[in-house]
Formats: sequence, structure tokens, C-alpha cells
Amino acid sequence: MQRLSGKKILFGITGSIAAYKSIQLVRDLTAAGAEVQVVLTPAAHQFVPPLTLQIFSKNNVYSDLFASRTDVLHVTLASGFDLNLIAPVTANFIAKMATGMADNLLSTILLSSSAPVLIAPAMDLGMWDHPAVQRNVALLKERGCIILDPESGPLASGLSGIGRMTDPQNIFDKTVSLLQGSPQTKKDKEAAPLSGEVVLVTAGPTREAIDPVRFISNRSSGKMGYALAHMAHEMGARVILISGPTSLPVPQGVESVFVQSTAEMKTEIERVVSSASIVIMSAAVSDYTPLDRSNQKLKRGPKLLRLIPTDDLLKGIAKQKGQKFLVGFAAETENLHKNAWAKLKAKGLDLIVANDVTQEGAGFDVDTNIVKMIDATGQHTSLPKMHKLEVARHILNEVIRLKSRAKTVKIKM
Ligand code: CTP
Repeated sequence: MQRLSGKKILFGITGSIAAYKSIQLVRDLTAAGAEVQVVLTPAAHQFVPPLTLQIFSKNNVYSDLFASRTDVLHVTLASGFDLNLIAPVTANFIAKMATGMADNLLSTILLSSSAPVLIAPAMDLGMWDHPAVQRNVALLKERGCIILDPESGPLASGLSGIGRMTDPQNIFDKTVSLLQGSPQTKKDKEAAPLSGEVVLVTAGPTREAIDPVRFISNRSSGKMGYALAHMAHEMGARVILISGPTSLPVPQGVESVFVQSTAEMKTEIERVVSSASIVIMSAAVSDYTPLDRSNQKLKRGPKLLRLIPTDDLLKGIAKQKGQKFLVGFAAETENLHKNAWAKLKAKGLDLIVANDVTQEGAGFDVDTNIVKMIDATGQHTSLPKMHKLEVARHILNEVIRLKSRAKTVKIKM
């Protein structure tokens, strides 16, 4: 079997002279068994002939956002791929990615797609070090984009310095290691026990608007969810974080999406949940939303606020659970075990993490937590007070243990 058999790569090429090197890369990735779909920006046409890429990728090459009359191209090309690889990527395209512009087929696909993104920048002398480019690069890194920095050497302009696209062999190797996971030794497996897993974590509160300046929310800081996202990434998983408003930095290497309301969180979950193998709902989702939202700021005076329940997001995920492992949280102020168990059953979970938010050192806006984990068979473990990162490690180890137990049981049957 070839190294990249069954892997689908969306290969974007932007307008840089280094684009000629991508022709060989397309050929090599295809030869390694990957299905490669090339998308050119209009400027890339100046540097590489689409027909050559079509022949080497054994696929149509797309470039025009409005080309297909039967398909919405930026939607069809935004799903089903294991990796979005952009090589070379220009300073101009990096700026578009950073600001979320959607002015051509490739930039629009990247906004719609949830696949991991690997980019190999190429630009002329001085551009890479420009504060604007560096700020954009930092922003992309924060969002989980993987960047193969340009190298120093002679440039097409005749000048010499930082700007050359990294060697195509490095791009090929990185692509293989991202898609395959490097061949794992026992030691690697211990260091990255979640490699191959896609973990979706929700975190923070949601906000339900009453009027343009007021909202209903709760005291969640997002610290537990961010700790889970951080730790899951450390343990080798691809992590997608859907976060309500918090003041926390996104952990390095974690893909993130920000939302305000429960309805927005629902939309984002629906967009990515099919790619997740583990879902951890640590968000403190607002249970109520105002029945009538005022478009104007409400004036002072007595008001009766009518509230309706929001959708239960976990229940929604449970309906299309498949092989996914589902973890919920239960924030309680009384009858911890009984209430958490009832939630696990009602929401169809594999594991619930319960905490009594009235205890000191547990719950909202503190760095520690005191939790009890209950699995679907009723077995439970209580953890002492510890830092949320340590709690996260315990939760993820429990997920790994329960997942492998489920596998063993299936094999025995
Ligand atoms: N949850 C959800 N959708 C909601 C409310 C909660 O998916 N609309 C999830 C939370 O993310 C958490 C779990 O359900 O993982 C339990 O949340 P919690 O607030 O403790 O319980 P509720 O189901 O809201 O019940 P109650 O507030 O009555 O205790």
C-alpha cells in the first residue's frame, strides 16, 4: 500500500515564482497515493500552466469561483479533504487568510473548510520580516495553521536573504507526517496517545442577547475547556475548539472558532462534528434565551423578560453519535452524583464530568477543579482538587481507557 493511499489533499497554489516547484510536488504526492485537487489563484496562472497540473494530479484544476453551474465549488471543495496545503503562499494571500477575505475560489474554500491547513510561504527580500506579515503569520499560527517558514538563500529577484519557499521535500515530508502520523514506536504512542483522534472541545459561556447592549450569560471562564484543548493537543490529537467569549489565549496548535450565542455554537458544532472522534462539551451553554430580542436598547423601567429554553446541543450530537465518544459536564450545586448520572442517561453520554460549583477551588473562574467522573456503566472516580490542566489529563486518560475497553469488548464479541 502507498504511503498516502486514501488521503485527499486540496493543493492551493498562489502567485509566486516558487509555484514552478509545486508541479513536482503535485506529481510526488499523487505518486504517493494521495488524491490531489489543485486550486490556483488567478495570479498563480501567471506562473504555472493548469494543463500540466491537471496531467500530474490526474484531476481537474479549478480556479474560477463561478466556474461550475451545477456545483457550488467553494462548498464542494471545502469538505472531504484531509489537508489544505498551500504552497507557495504569498504575503498577499497570507494577509487574505489572516483577515478572512473571500475574493477568489481558494480564499473562499479556506473560509468554508475545517481541514487542517499547512502553508509554505515564499516572498522577496524584506517582506517576511515586515511587521504586517509577521503579525498575520502569528495570527494564523494562533488559529492552528501549520507554517513551514521560508528559508534563506538566493531569491528570484537576484537578491539574497530570507524568502525562498522551503525545499519541496520538506513540504512532502511534513504532509506525510501530518496525514499518516509518523510511524509510531511504542515510546511515541505513550507520548502521543491521542494521535489519530480528532477532538472537538466546546468551552466558555454562551451569551443570549436581550438588546444590542445586554445579554444573559453565566460565570464560566472557559478555563476547563481550554485546558482540555491544550492537553488533547499535547497528547497528539487534532483539536478543534469552539469557544464562547473568554479572555483566554487559544492554545498553540489548536484550531479555534469563536461564537457568542447557543444558536451560533450549534451551527459551528454541526459544521465540524462529523470529523470528530471525541466530543467534549465543557461549554456552559446558556439554557435560556429571550423570546423577544429588542433591536433597540431597552429603556429604563420595569420589564418582564420572557425566556424560552435553548436547544440542548449535547442531545443533538448524541442523535448522530455513531462511533463518537461523547463527554459531557455537569455543573451542580446539590445532589452531584444523582444529577450527573441523570444527565449522562438523558443525553446519551459515554462519560460525564461532574463538579459541585459551590465547593472552594472548583467550578467557575478558578485555576483548579474538583471533579467526579462517571462512565456509562455507572463506575465512578473522584479526583482531589488539582490544577485544571491536570484534571484535563485525567479526563483524557479516562477517555482513552474507556475507548480501548469498548474496542476490546467488541473484538471479544
Ligand atoms: N449542554 C448542552 N446544551 C444546553 C445545555 C447544556 O449541550 N443547552 C451541555 C453542557 O455543555 C454540559 C451538559 O450539557 O456538557 C450539562 O450541562 P448543565 O448546564 O450542567 O446541565 P443542563 O442540561 O443545562 O441542566 P440543568 O441546567 O437543569 O442542570
